[in-house]
Amino acid sequence: MDSPFVAVARAADVPSGGFVKVEVAGRAFLVAHVGEHWYAVEDLCSHEDFPLSYGCLEGERVKCSLHGSRFDLKTGRPLEEPADTPIATYRVAVAGDLVLLDPTAPTNAH
Ligand code: FES
Repeated sequence: MDSPFVAVARAADVPSGGFVKVEVAGRAFLVAHVGEHWYAVEDLCSHEDFPLSYGCLEGERVKCSLHGSRFDLKTGRPLEEPADTPIATYRVAVAGDLVLLDPTAPTNAH
C-alpha cells in the first residue's frame, strides 16, 4: 500500500518557532515547528474561514490574525472565542531533511 505521506517542505526551511504554508492538491496547510515537535493543521480558521497563515505562533498555539482566537496545534481546539469549533489537524513526520504530511484524513475527527 502506498504511503499517504507527501513531502511538503525542507525541515531546514522551518525554524523552531516558525511555520510554513504548504499546498497539497489545492488544499492549504500550515506546518509548524516548535522545539522537538512538528504540527500540521488546515490553513483555515474555523470562525470565518480566514487563513491562519496570516497569523502567528504563540508557543504550541496558532493565533488567527482576524479576530484573535488561538488554537492548540496538537488538538486543533480553540482556546478562546470567537472561534468555538476545532480546526483540523493532520499527521506530520520528518525524514532526513524532508517534512512529510498525510493530507488524507484529519487526526482529530474534524
Ligand atoms: S476568523 Fe479567525 S477568529 Fe475570526
